[in-house]
Amino acid sequence: MRITILGSAAGGGFPQWNCNCRNCAGLRAGTLRAKARTQSSIFIQPDAGGDGLLLNASPDILQQIKATPALQPGRAIRDTAIAAVLLMDGQIDHATGLFMLRERGSPLPLWCTDPVAEDLSTGNPIFRVLQHYCGVDRHRIEPDGSVFEIPGLAPLTFRAIALSSKAAPYSPHRDAPVPGDNIGLIVTDPRSGRTLFYAPGLGEIDPRVAEAMHAADAVMVDGTFWTNDEMQRLGLSRKTAHDIGHLAQSGPGGMVEWLGKLPASTRRLLIHINNTNPILDADSPERAALDRAGIAVCEDGMTLDL
Ligand code: MLT
Ligand code: MN
Ligand code: ZN
Repeated sequence: MRITILGSAAGGGFPQWNCNCRNCAGLRAGTLRAKARTQSSIFIQPDAGGDGLLLNASPDILQQIKATPALQPGRAIRDTAIAAVLLMDGQIDHATGLFMLRERGSPLPLWCTDPVAEDLSTGNPIFRVLQHYCGVDRHRIEPDGSVFEIPGLAPLTFRAIALSSKAAPYSPHRDAPVPGDNIGLIVTDPRSGRTLFYAPGLGEIDPRVAEAMHAADAVMVDGTFWTNDEMQRLGLSRKTAHDIGHLAQSGPGGMVEWLGKLPASTRRLLIHINNTNPILDADSPERAALDRAGIAVCEDGMTLDL
């Protein structure tokens, strides 16, 4: 399978429109060695050159499609390589790009859990709005680890597990999490036997998540914040990373420590990186620490073949 990183930033992107933190200001001024990034989304094709699955529909989807020729193969007057969309959660940065796909000639094949479908029909009724355009052909994901297939994506197989993270602020159950608000996805290519574990929003590594990470050939996981109090320290929020459902990278029990427990052959990648995160600066000591630990920081346009 071919995995293409369409967007590697967290909500807000990098630089964020209203932000003048060290990273955002430094990128604009050209004084920081860093790359701009659009909001979190990846594309998975069974074979490079064929149709694929869009994982999350970022508000930046139109820019991402323009930047990625593989998404527009041009086989017909109206065409796309996006065979289906799968949502990891119902957050703004992962779902509002659905509006931009409204010109389709047929209902959009869309895979998500029941809590996400509910949020996107009530708190943020994107599905209801889209019924006035292409419509949504929604398929249920059970976040219980059972295997499912997606038409057009053969021979890839998929399994979803419920994660401890957070539903969107507009969710009727934002403060009372239910299984399926956020999922981690295990994608397997049976031809190579190789597996990706993808979890851009991951608040806690419970035994099921640890098991999925250990079994994967590549893990692409939550890279939102370096420290739990990153936004508080900068005076940008009263909330910690943990409060909004993200496990920080540094410190005891942090993501770097968890990734260090994986087999030596596992590819380790961070995605959904917040614009405040010092790892965006290629010259930072935090980035050097990741380099030493063999952890890559995803960039827009990067590809990975498994
Ligand atoms: C998150 O991942 O916590 C959210 O996407 C943040 C946001 O978009 O405001
Ligand atoms: Mn997000
Ligand atoms: Zn910033």
